[in-house]
Amino acid sequence: MIIETPAEKIRVSKAGSLRGEITLPGDKSISHRAVIIGALAKGEVRISSLSSGEDNQRTITAFKQMGVDITRERDGDLRIQGKGLFALKEPAQVIDAGNSGTTMRLLTGLLSGQKFFSVLSGDTSLNQRPMKRVIEPLSMMGAQIWGRGGGNFAPLAITGRNLKAIRYELPVASAQVKSAVILAGLCAEGITEVQEPSFTRDHTERMLAYFGVDLEREGSAVRVQGGREWEGKEVIVPGDISSAAFFIVAATIIPHSEITIRGAGINPARTGFLEILRQMGASIKIANKREVSGEPVADIVVRSSRLRGREIRGEMIPRAIDEIPILAIAATCAEGETVIRDAGELRVKETDRIKAIASELKRFGVSVEEYEDGFMIAGGVKLKGTRCLSYGDHRMAMSLIIAGLVSEGETVVDGTECIRTSFPQFMETLKAIMN
Ligand code: S3P
Repeated sequence: MIIETPAEKIRVSKAGSLRGEITLPGDKSISHRAVIIGALAKGEVRISSLSSGEDNQRTITAFKQMGVDITRERDGDLRIQGKGLFALKEPAQVIDAGNSGTTMRLLTGLLSGQKFFSVLSGDTSLNQRPMKRVIEPLSMMGAQIWGRGGGNFAPLAITGRNLKAIRYELPVASAQVKSAVILAGLCAEGITEVQEPSFTRDHTERMLAYFGVDLEREGSAVRVQGGREWEGKEVIVPGDISSAAFFIVAATIIPHSEITIRGAGINPARTGFLEILRQMGASIKIANKREVSGEPVADIVVRSSRLRGREIRGEMIPRAIDEIPILAIAATCAEGETVIRDAGELRVKETDRIKAIASELKRFGVSVEEYEDGFMIAGGVKLKGTRCLSYGDHRMAMSLIIAGLVSEGETVVDGTECIRTSFPQFMETLKAIMN
């Protein structure tokens, strides 16, 4: 039950069961692509079910600063008057990406090939996250980008140039870097090719293909021809599967629960956590599969189940990267040990998620061993309610709230305002299915 929800902290105690049906707001990653690719289209683009999170608002504001006419119609619906790939205007102010890595990295790619000067900055967390990974390939294309720390950290200053196409093998499995190079490639001369070391979310590729941009995909390579324009059309954003993950884990670990999530995106690059949970023993059914604006969508039915710990590593990690904090909560309730390896990328997310998971779960009485690239959780313990901290990270905050629902006594999560970056409706959605 929820005791109270003051502005910066949320108090929870043990939940009875979760039951009912929910529909989640639009996927954050897909919403960014819909706005970016929509703003670059020629003509009107209507987007429905766009995420109302602050991160997506940052991307919208950036395009408004660059002269694109964007209006919010009803909640979640947006109308963009796209002017084409080369009609953006120089922003008079710094573009503030806030907490949003996707806004900063994707726009760095796009702005490298626009003929004006721009500056991108973010909050304290974002300005400490690595940017060299995007600057390196973009510089090979001829981009001029300056940043703090020898060019690794924002604020970034970009002087747009004529770019040349490259063939680039990504050293890290990152959809943000892949997308930055693709967006730069759209502005470049020639055919840009990006190869990824393992499969990461392909929303940029799917959104471009949906808008009719001819994009070649072959194995782990994507090729895009620069200088092509596309027309506006309507986009419907599927429900956010990463937001669904909190309820899927909660319904699995809270006894006597059964929930249905309608219209969630089930892009295979995002559903690694569903496979992991099933292998741990979760009861998750996928029904009514369909395609919406180039993305696979389905309804998901979850019932509570007993879980067993397991090891998760290798190619599975990029397909479950944003769900590892909530998988860690599932692991505390599973019989035996759960080991996560090859997940060093977690250290450069909104916070160092390996450190945050280890320190906060210890407060609940869980034994956690931290590795450079992951952690081990000894499951099957009764969690003790505690005071804990989000580290300003939305996914940590929501995961800790779910931990509080299976803990004895009261849990207070401090620093919960960050939930607004991705899922402002999180608490009301949770309350709607709590008994
Ligand atoms: C995202 C890609 C992932 C993910 C992030 C959103 C995207 O980051 O963790 O939350 O929208 O492209 P990386 O590309 O850095 O792995």
